[in-house]
This record gives sequence, C-alpha cells and structure tokens, in this order.
Amino acid sequence: GKGNYNHFMQKEIFEQPAVIGDTLHAFINPATRTIKLPEMPFSFDDVSRLTIVACGTSFYAGMVAKHWIERYAGLGVDVDIASEFRYRRPPLPKGGVALFISQSGETLDTLAALRYAKSKGQKIVSIVNVAESTIARESDAVLLTYAGPEIGVASTKAFTTQLTVLACLAVTIGRDNGTLSKDEEAAIVNALTELPKHAAEVLHHDDAIRELAINIADARDVLYIGRGLGYPIAMEGALKLKEISYIHAEGYAAGEMKHGPIALIDQSVPIIVIAPSDELFEKTASNMQEAAARGGRVIFLSDAQGLAKLGDIASATVELPKVADFVAPILYTIPVQMLAYHVAVHKGTDVDQPRNLAKSVTVE
Ligand code: M6R
Repeated sequence: GKGNYNHFMQKEIFEQPAVIGDTLHAFINPATRTIKLPEMPFSFDDVSRLTIVACGTSFYAGMVAKHWIERYAGLGVDVDIASEFRYRRPPLPKGGVALFISQSGETLDTLAALRYAKSKGQKIVSIVNVAESTIARESDAVLLTYAGPEIGVASTKAFTTQLTVLACLAVTIGRDNGTLSKDEEAAIVNALTELPKHAAEVLHHDDAIRELAINIADARDVLYIGRGLGYPIAMEGALKLKEISYIHAEGYAAGEMKHGPIALIDQSVPIIVIAPSDELFEKTASNMQEAAARGGRVIFLSDAQGLAKLGDIASATVELPKVADFVAPILYTIPVQMLAYHVAVHKGTDVDQPRNLAKSVTVE
C-alpha cells in the first residue's frame, strides 16, 4: 500500500535513501571500503568498447554510466535507445559486452536489442529490478537493483538505484583495469556510502519545492539544462515533468542553448538549471546568465558554493549538499522528481497512472 503517502510516486521518492542504501549494501564491503560485484563469466579487461542499451529513464541511467565508465574506467561506451539500436542493427565488436538496463526487465524493445546483441556474439549483462524477468533470464550476468516493487508509472527509485549499481560497475571496471587507484576507489566508496544521508537531506526540501511547483504549473514549456553528468539529469527531469504533469519540457546540454533552444526563452519559460559546483560550473553558470538576461525564470539547483556565487540571478533556488562530483547526478535527480511530482499534484493529474502510459512497455 501507499502507507502515509498520497501517491505511490511520492512514497517511492521518499524510499530512495533506504533503497540506495540497500543497493550499496549488496555491493560494498564497508570494512575494506571496496566494491565487490558478483562474479561475471567474463572480464571487462578484454573488452575494447562497451555498448549500453535501454529505453526512457533507464536510457538516461545509461547516459550517466557512459560518462562514469569513460571518465573513471577509461573504457569507451556507446549508449543507445533500444528502439533505434535494434533496427539500425549496428556492427558490434568481436567478443564485446553489451549492457541492458531495465526496471521491469520486460521492455520489448530492450529485450529485442538484447537478442540482437546476443546473435552478434556479445556477452550480455543486465541491470534489472525484477530478478525473474525475461531480460534477466536471457543475460549472462545480472546485477540487481534493490529498489523493491516500483508501482508509479514514472520511474524514480528504480533510476537512482540503477545509477547506484552503475557507479559500482564503473568503479569495478576502473579498478580492475588499473585506471582507478585504491585511494580513488576509497574516495568514491565514501561518497557513495554518504549518499543515503544526503538523499534524506534533499527530501527535507519537500515543502519548498511544493511552493516552487505552483509557479511552474502554469507554464506551457519548461527547459532543463545541465552539463556533463548533469545533462542526463536534465533529460530525466524533463521526462518526469512531461509524463505526469503534461507540460511540455525539454532537457538540453547547457552548451547547446545558443544553437537553438535559447530562442524559446521569454518571461513565461521556467529554466531549471542543474549545476553542482564542479569543474563545469562556470560554463553552466554562464548559460544560466544568458537565459536570465533574456527574461527566463531561472530555478537554480546547486550547493552552497554555487548558490553563493550566482544564487541572486535566479528566481528560485534549491540548495543541495556539497558532494563528490561522481555522485552528484544521483542526488540531483531527487529534486527534479519532487518538482515534477508537486507540479502534477497541483494540476490534479493522475500521478501514478498518467494518461496514455503503461508501467511496462511490452509492445512496440
Ligand atoms: O522497465 P524499463 O526500465 O525497461 O522501462 C523503460 C521505460 O519505459 C521507463 O523508464 C519509462 O520511460 C518511465 N515511464 C519513465 O518514468
């Protein structure tokens, strides 16, 4: 049941500190501060390139993973939407590994992509939330997310636990191939271990985000921008808003604004800026300033340091704890989920069962 919550989605958002913790617990040895994934019947050391395929929110998890695995494990990653991948029938490297991400483990396009990759001799790894699912059964190795059943059509805790598993995978690949030192692994493990606590802190902003949502509920279009690890989170934020509030929203790489989307900006367009104070902060901040200068209503998600620098040009801010760059995308997901949730509640839409959507897309 929903317990004390009004919707499953709300309950699932609030479960995130616990289920991220459960997922970490399965893969991290707290004594040695090291990550231990289940044995896999092949080694990533022999792999020259990794292919990741998924749909929807799970695809955005794949985008984050591409960034992590390339940056922290030095392994090139191709990431694709299953419905594109399966019909393009791309050539795949001999002895390659393909990774499929799916909450349900039943998404038809993802399954078809898996079968294609298998027919091309790829080793198949999947990250699923349902251990007995078809995708899990047809994989050579399965990494589980410990999100528990996700009922709301809009994916929330499945996404942040997928990211948690993918973070552990990226660190494992990087450690095993020598890209990541013991100290770097320990630092990331520390940051991951603190995530449940930080996620709980973000949930404390619920009332403030509910207030903020009132000013977005009347918008026709909403833009989400971010760079690097913040870019997929911008996409995810926009998808959440579209799905449950029916407001048109787009996520963009902040650097793309001047290549087109900035033309959309006027006083009526809220721009959600995802900008932890990392190495790309100044770049994203200048895109934010450009948007503000054109009258856009900027909602700025950052940490104390970022807000101290530029908080005053925003029409609203959400302050997140300062965390290691690596884990920031997991944390910054939570306020964009909450924002979409409160906008939808304010508009009175069916949050858990949005129109035209199914929880598990088992048809094309
Ligand atoms: O079960 P899956 O992870 O394979 O589902 C993929 C998408 O259908 C799913 O993430 C969808 O985009 C959600 N409704 C997003 O909130």
